[in-house]
Amino acid sequence: MSTRPTTVRRDPGYAGLTTPVETLPAAWYFDAAHYQRELSRIWYHNWLYVCRSAEIGAARSFHALSVGDQSLFVVRGEDAVVRAFHNTCRHRGAALCSAASGRFASAGIVCPYHSWRYNLRGELVQTSSRAPGDGFELRDYPLYALPVVEWNGFIFAALTPDPPPFERSFDLPLDRLDDWQLGELVVGHRLHKTIECNWKVFWENYNECLHCPGVHPRLAQLVPIFGRALLERRDDPKWQDHAEDDDPRYGGGLRAGAQSWTMDGAPVGVPFPKLSAADRKAGHLYLTSLPSVFIVAHVDYVRVVRLLPLGPERTDMSIEFLFLPETVADTGRDISGAVEFTNIVMSEDAAVCELNQRGLHALAHRAGVLMPEEYAIRQFQEWVRAELTGGAA
Ligand code: FES
Ligand SMILES: [Fe+2]
Repeated sequence: MSTRPTTVRRDPGYAGLTTPVETLPAAWYFDAAHYQRELSRIWYHNWLYVCRSAEIGAARSFHALSVGDQSLFVVRGEDAVVRAFHNTCRHRGAALCSAASGRFASAGIVCPYHSWRYNLRGELVQTSSRAPGDGFELRDYPLYALPVVEWNGFIFAALTPDPPPFERSFDLPLDRLDDWQLGELVVGHRLHKTIECNWKVFWENYNECLHCPGVHPRLAQLVPIFGRALLERRDDPKWQDHAEDDDPRYGGGLRAGAQSWTMDGAPVGVPFPKLSAADRKAGHLYLTSLPSVFIVAHVDYVRVVRLLPLGPERTDMSIEFLFLPETVADTGRDISGAVEFTNIVMSEDAAVCELNQRGLHALAHRAGVLMPEEYAIRQFQEWVRAELTGGAA
């Protein structure tokens, strides 16, 4: 009889970490100076999800977004083009929009301080002075323009003139979600939560399922592989034992009989008609754009979760539920089964994120350690480090 201990099989297909990896320093999750560094290097340098296109569907309507000490707004022009600007007047710097959203008067963008007036392209068209000083030219004082992208009904903007290429800020090719007709979807419901944790704590929790069996009993039932504390088939060091096994415990996807992330597993919205059999079987597809948003596509709805840091230890989370227009138009439809399910799962996540945040302050705790299943956290933490040092992610 062999006395060799049972060894965990390693193979190139295995996704997990094979050695312990130290986490980011604990202080990075609460230190105010470090937080400012992350705002500057990460939040002010990457694409941020602002709002759905329909929120500024009409010409002159705007939507503002604040992060750290920065504020920008997006506005739709009379030419239907969306533009983004710093929320700052070129005169002496007053904030132009005080409301989070609204519609400018037909005169354009008028500063509430001394009434400088801009058109929707951001050009200064009028000051309030009786006579401008010698050499003053309106054209020298346009609003500070920012990059903006309108993609499939989502508006993203960046607080730097040179953000990374938009497509590269996503972890999947953007056409991967084409079958969900994202551009046509409408918001059927919104949820909002403030979580008392650093924004990275949220993303780290998002990137592992080691917590799923204990924290998400309902989700662990609906997605059996999550119930095994794994995200994917190859996260199990012994995955090859079940390499061809179609059982959702090994292959992922929803439990038998379930089709969507809802209270009873039944779709609440009209199913998206173009989905492949594989996408229907998987039941969910994640698309992530760090640092501000992830999109989860189900068979009948799409969930958009946007994060914004409110401080070193506070994060704002807003969730939009997108459906086909016919789902939202049908007043007889009850979408609450999707909303309630999401609310349960996200509340469970928020609670453990807050727990995580509270413990990080221990004087003795300099850093934690990542376990094999937390390989995606390591990727995230490497991205954070690379962003902070200005390197490529
Ligand atoms: S600061 Fe805007 S008009 Fe004076
Ligand atoms: Fe979770």
